[in-house]
Amino acid sequence: MGIERVIEPTTPDEDGSKSEEEIFEQTLRPLTFNDYIGQDRMKNNLKLAIDAVKKRQKTTGKKIAQTTLDHILLYGPPGLGKTTMANVIAHELGANIKVTSGPAIERAGDLASILTNLQEGDVLFIDEIHRLRRAVEEVLYSAMEDFKLDIVIGKGPAASSVRLDLPKFTVIGATTRTGSLAGPLRDRFGILHRLEYYKTEDIEKIIARTAKLLDTKIEPEAVKLLATRSRRTPRIANRLVKRVRDYADVNGDGIIDTEIAKKSLELMEIDELGLDPADRNMLNLMLENYEDRPVGLATIAALTGDEASTIEDYYEPYLLQLGLIERTPRGRKVTKKAEKHLKH
Ligand SMILES: Nc1ncnc2c1ncn2[C@@H]1O[C@H](COP(=O)(O)OP(=O)(O)O)[C@@H](O)[C@H]1O
Ligand SMILES: [Mg+2]
Repeated sequence: MGIERVIEPTTPDEDGSKSEEEIFEQTLRPLTFNDYIGQDRMKNNLKLAIDAVKKRQKTTGKKIAQTTLDHILLYGPPGLGKTTMANVIAHELGANIKVTSGPAIERAGDLASILTNLQEGDVLFIDEIHRLRRAVEEVLYSAMEDFKLDIVIGKGPAASSVRLDLPKFTVIGATTRTGSLAGPLRDRFGILHRLEYYKTEDIEKIIARTAKLLDTKIEPEAVKLLATRSRRTPRIANRLVKRVRDYADVNGDGIIDTEIAKKSLELMEIDELGLDPADRNMLNLMLENYEDRPVGLATIAALTGDEASTIEDYYEPYLLQLGLIERTPRGRKVTKKAEKHLKH
């Protein structure tokens, strides 16, 4: 614990207001398909679905059931652009977006009030949808399926239930883990997309775009260097640009060249694979204690002092993707490739 990481999620400040990181991310968030870089397969599919809805809206002149966009589930590791895509979809649809998250909806009644306040055609974005409570999930099923809301009035034998009609809306759910999503909930989504790690050239485009939005000059070679250290993840790419820009402002003339980028990366201790001290610490602890034998998730968490879910959501996906660890039925294993990387 305590090692500040570039891969962590953005959380609000303690008083609930937007943190500096959140504001930073928001200012960089593309709003249209055109500005959303990469993920072409997902983009093309969604574009088609949205165009079809718009066309039907035009011909019928009315937003009825068949003219609402299917519910969409976006899944994949943190920082790859799920929240961003939800906003792009709403924008391209010309729809309002209401934003909430699994843990934020505490009781079925909270969801009921969100649903009854929606308007025809609205997008309801539910982040971390795998963390919805069971009772809330059940209300969501029928709302998603037939746009009805069952409300129980009163208690005990005198209780009765009423069925309310809801406006036709579109749920966009985001999750880092589809595995933890209840089957019936998953089945309510007509469109499912997995976000992939970005191609290096797309990360380069994102870095160049971000530097431009931040009004910072960056040399092409420096763009390339930062791209290789960004874990193929836009959130990390953006944070690196920000940190390197600060470094350039203090130690140079504000221009990011290769020299400045290199020195700044060294200072952050981000290596050629984009691993930071926390990643290397975890791999080293696994190696020292278990060599190449499988280790359970809870044990790894105990070794590093992190939550198991942090390991699963924030450390592991990229390390797996790089082939530095392997998942076996009996736990996680450090690979030869990782051993080699840590040694040199
Ligand atoms: N395809 C993209 N093109 C440009 N920037 C992106 C893209 N995807 C994500 N970003 C940037 O990365 C940051 C993190 O993306 P976000 O949507 O919050 O990720 P997630 O919700 O998957 O964790 C955003 O601030 C956004 O500016
Ligand atoms: Mg998000």
